[in-house]
Amino acid sequence: MNKTRREFIKQSALLGATTTLIPAIPSFSFSEGAKSNAGKPIIISSANGKEAIKKAMEMIQQGSDALDAVIAGVNIVEDDPNDMSVGYGGLPNEEGVVELDAAVMHGATMRAGSVASIRNIKNPSKVARLVMERSDHILIVGEGALRFAKAHGFQEENLLTEKAREEWLKWKENLSNQDDWLPQHSIEDKDIGGLFEPFYRHYGTIHCSALDKNGNLSCTTTTSGLAYKIPGRVGDSPIIGAGLYLDNEVGSAGSTGRGESNLFNCSSAMIVEYMRQGKSPEQACMLACKRIVDHNKEKRLLDEKNRYKPQVKFYAINKQGEHGGASIWKGGKYIIHDGTDVKEFEGAYLYEK
Ligand code: GLY
Repeated sequence: MNKTRREFIKQSALLGATTTLIPAIPSFSFSEGAKSNAGKPIIISSANGKEAIKKAMEMIQQGSDALDAVIAGVNIVEDDPNDMSVGYGGLPNEEGVVELDAAVMHGATMRAGSVASIRNIKNPSKVARLVMERSDHILIVGEGALRFAKAHGFQEENLLTEKAREEWLKWKENLSNQDDWLPQHSIEDKDIGGLFEPFYRHYGTIHCSALDKNGNLSCTTTTSGLAYKIPGRVGDSPIIGAGLYLDNEVGSAGSTGRGESNLFNCSSAMIVEYMRQGKSPEQACMLACKRIVDHNKEKRLLDEKNRYKPQVKFYAINKQGEHGGASIWKGGKYIIHDGTDVKEFEGAYLYEK
């Protein structure tokens, strides 16, 4: 599909979405990012997951369950010191301590597990799986999550690399208004808090959803969260329904970007529900973006053109193997492994700079 057609689609979705909170998007054909892949395995991830989806597809093609595959895939990114938004080497909180969030969902058994603010364990996605399989809980946080991991044989290690420490020190030495502490204010106040320019703060994160050979879905989202966050801050990634959600009969979705925007809107659960109602993955992700923007009443989060400043990106696949993505600001790329190759797509978006 040519660019003009894509622009029309994006525009149509936006125009259709301005009149009501959850608009009826006009019916339109799928963009190039959403062709049917029915009956074949498919994996979607945020753009930083190239090695992850290669590994995951290799496993799925050998017959692995989707959950084994997505976890093994994102472990590569969690272990990579050069990805400063996930696992080992992730940017720390405002006190220089790395705190990780992760969640997993397994479609075949419709179970989930997650950990938040866990320190010193570089593969929180593996601990999240253990929470799902070896506890009667869904979410364990902080010290309790660390102890739970250690009880299952995980070794503690220092997750702060020299590169991440130096980045943190630079931030600490130049604080200005770029932290997360807000003075008393009203929703009408504009010049309060961080800059929120799209992309100025480091949210990172990897989301990965897969449909395996048996037609079962699974997904995981794992992150070091917002760089320089207030200690104990939990983003959207480990929250079932926000940072990820699936229904094995419908589809799977997840997010990266500013977790606070998503937490308020439970966007991944909404995306799955939009797909259940018949929306394509791209349409569903676009509706989630619109919902975030329409719900916002805080002026500090709007730019001079009254556009919502933070960036959030969504990724989705459905049970038929169709895929799509959308973000509030242009630039929401995602990648797909369709069994043959890794392909990059640009998702739909609401605003362009
Ligand atoms: N989406 C990652 C976070 O906000 O922590």
